[in-house]
Amino acid sequence: MRTHRVAILPGDGIGPEVVDITVRALEAVQEKAGTYKLELVMGEAGVNAIAKYGTNVPPQTVDMLKTTVACLKGPMTTPEKPGAPPSAALTIRKLFDLYANVRPCLSLPNVPSAKPNIDLTIVRENTEGLYSNIEFEVGEGVAVAMRVISRKASERVARFAFKLANQRRKRLSYVHKANILRRTDGIFNQAVLSVSKEFPEVAIDSYYIDNMALQLIKRPETFDVIVTTNLFGDIMSDEAAQLVGGLGVVSGANMGDNYAMFEPVHGSAPKYTRQDKVNPIATIFAGKMLLEYVGEKDSARELERAVLEVLKDGKTLTYDLGGKAKSSEMCEAILEKIRRPNAIT
Ligand code: IPM
Ligand code: MN
Repeated sequence: MRTHRVAILPGDGIGPEVVDITVRALEAVQEKAGTYKLELVMGEAGVNAIAKYGTNVPPQTVDMLKTTVACLKGPMTTPEKPGAPPSAALTIRKLFDLYANVRPCLSLPNVPSAKPNIDLTIVRENTEGLYSNIEFEVGEGVAVAMRVISRKASERVARFAFKLANQRRKRLSYVHKANILRRTDGIFNQAVLSVSKEFPEVAIDSYYIDNMALQLIKRPETFDVIVTTNLFGDIMSDEAAQLVGGLGVVSGANMGDNYAMFEPVHGSAPKYTRQDKVNPIATIFAGKMLLEYVGEKDSARELERAVLEVLKDGKTLTYDLGGKAKSSEMCEAILEKIRRPNAIT
């Protein structure tokens, strides 16, 4: 039987709850398929690891990740203090050169959506920009952060976005602020335009980030794939998540050429820890993307179908979707949908 060795990093705050539910759902679809085995390896990372090991991603976790093909990562709290260990997500993104952060935003049944038919995907450059960690004080009360933009990183994320757009509705919007950030976004835009020659069938259009923030509210259903730099992509992906029902339902894939990490777009929401309250769907959808990545497309579809059916039924919804169900009740409803034999069509 084929085996996929996959790392699980439950994280902190609400992380362990939503990851545990996702693991149960992954095990249920695997059992139903009966054709492959997920070899799940648990690892420590996040704010609890800082207290224990002085770092967000301890060396034994790094070694373990290197033995796996992909990883499912729960949300993790990132400290704000200067000099604190860097974010676990960023550390893993850089370590494995996961250069494209892919965040699909799709209207879902029974979930409030700005428009009924949104189907857009944000592709965010994931290794540089304002996340380059080059920041220093230059004098009393004055500090500087550097925004690194390279042609190499811009071209490879652009190529990723074009390939994706080519498989979808063949539209790519690129987002920048080249009227102000002339050199850095100048390089980014040039990279997009140069890669566009490899994809003559993909139509492109260009937006300033401020205007895209508005267009996303005004006509989100018209966008297909959107590519942008790191911080703009971070901000836009929270905005786009809200258009399709909020952070409870949107997941992301951090893609490199040899490894991938899957995670919900939301954070660790420490105030909801162990309250059995939050929506596990964002993390379950991260699990679905992971199944697609390892080639288990039928199970990915099965997992998605189960979630969509629970949403359609509208009986077991968490508070963020206007319901009263606990996370564990939503989990049981999804597991029940997976376990039920499929209707013969
Ligand atoms: C995200 C998060 C992270 C980011 C934080 C936790 C470092 O907001 O994945 O969008 O800024 O990339
Ligand atoms: Mn974010």
